[in-house]
Amino acid sequence: MLNNSDHTFCIAPMMDWTDRHERVFLRLFSGKSMLYTEMITSAALTHGNAANLLMHSPEEYPLAIQIGGSNPEELAIASRLAEDAGFSEINLNIGCPSDRVQSGRFGACLMSEPVLVAQCVTGIADAVSLPVTVKCRIGINDVDTDEALEGFISTVAGGGCQLFIIHARIALLEGLSPKQNREIPPLNYQRVFNMKRQFPDLSIILNGGITDLTQGSKLLDKVDGIMVGREAYQNPFTLSQVDNLFFCEPVTNKSRLQYLQAYLPYMRFELERGTPLHHMTRHILGLFRGVNGGKNFRRHLSEHSTKSDATLNVLFDAMAYVS
Ligand SMILES: Cc1cc2nc3c(=O)[nH]c(=O)nc-3n(C[C@H](O)[C@H](O)[C@H](O)COP(=O)(O)O)c2cc1C
Repeated sequence: MLNNSDHTFCIAPMMDWTDRHERVFLRLFSGKSMLYTEMITSAALTHGNAANLLMHSPEEYPLAIQIGGSNPEELAIASRLAEDAGFSEINLNIGCPSDRVQSGRFGACLMSEPVLVAQCVTGIADAVSLPVTVKCRIGINDVDTDEALEGFISTVAGGGCQLFIIHARIALLEGLSPKQNREIPPLNYQRVFNMKRQFPDLSIILNGGITDLTQGSKLLDKVDGIMVGREAYQNPFTLSQVDNLFFCEPVTNKSRLQYLQAYLPYMRFELERGTPLHHMTRHILGLFRGVNGGKNFRRHLSEHSTKSDATLNVLFDAMAYVS
């Protein structure tokens, strides 16, 4: 099993959501979670503005970069850049069903090409000293059996991957949007449990549909960790339980406002270097969900934080609704 970092609780890679500002914000709630970047393609890293794409802050560690691609040489180069930039792990995306990704021949469609995925993993593992992990689905289209998933995992493990994050639903590569592909195919946790039983020496992390972290912690009887996506983004305060529930740390009783106050120095620093306010405030809209004044907090930020001259005063005014 993979020992470098603890994957008992992971926060999912989410395009456009888990950017560097969001990750710093989420890190405030849990010092122990494993964080993942949004997917970045190996082509963008090798031919684009890598410095910009790899930008992150040390407080985000442990931090995995998720890369999309299927060319082992290109993935190796991209991974070396990521290692030099300080990331803790390289995660290969074998779960994204979007048309754009399919036409580039990566993401979930690679579940039908385990040998190529194993070559990609080996290419990366030979190039860097970081752990190489894979995030996949339980199947694609009509390939939806334990045998097929076992075949995929055993081949890819042979290439050098010891940790699999499995989104517990198949991806339908035609006819559904990526959003529908996170909602319509039914969850099948049993399939993921079966993989842990079949491959006890591999680390198996279950992802998909977890909204109650106490319930989620009970899954640790059957898998090595869980990954949470949408709930973490839409209701970040729930993450304040993580270090206690999953890592046996003492309970913290910080309020939502205290977490927000802890984010202020980072926001101030970023504003000073020219980052627009709403790049950060757009990620905190879920913080006061279900709380008195929460609607006004969100409305105020949405209306005022996108103005080009918006300062932290916009946030302070929003905070008055929930103080
Ligand atoms: C807005 C959004 C963007 C996503 N982008 C990615 C991505 O870049 N890479 C990836 O592997 N999964 C991506 N996902 C899928 C999540 O990582 C996760 O597998 C999925 O949301 C199921 O977990 P959940 O039910 O806890 O949200 C994305 C999900 C959302 C909601």
